[in-house]
Amino acid sequence: MYDSKIAAADTATMYRDLAGALEGLVSGETDAVANMANAVALIWETLPDLNWAGFYRNVGGELVLGPFQGRPACIRIAFGEGVCGAAAATKQVQRIDDVHAFPGHIACDSASNSELVVPILRDGELIAVLDLDSPKHARFTDEDEAGVTTLAEILARAI
Ligand code: SME
Repeated sequence: MYDSKIAAADTATMYRDLAGALEGLVSGETDAVANMANAVALIWETLPDLNWAGFYRNVGGELVLGPFQGRPACIRIAFGEGVCGAAAATKQVQRIDDVHAFPGHIACDSASNSELVVPILRDGELIAVLDLDSPKHARFTDEDEAGVTTLAEILARAI
């Protein structure tokens, strides 16, 4: 059982500890679902002010819901649709301060106001996206984007 909660003094240290904990959780395990499930549980427990965190996987060119924490969500998202679809289509991080101002945003949970979606790439191919939602406007900073991008790089080798 993993039971050491990360409580760092600053955001950079928190992401460093989180990356280390994630490396430990996925090392030696090759099952993608197990690794995604543990990763999102760790993220959910560590990052404040989230109302949803989870994966959408690239299944034959469509995003399909994977392991997550939060309320039940939309199951399938086309590439190019919403914030997740934009991340999938462009392979670029989408950091949205106000999701209501994002054309085509898919409101799975009406509590969401800002969103960070990080593509997970292996050999240049999109494997999945990691989607974090917050009820706070402009919740995600440059440090969050950098920290979650590091998590995505660890996950690229583990899912
Ligand atoms: N808001 C996302 C949809 C997924 S949910 O946030 C869980 C989007 O616009 O792609």
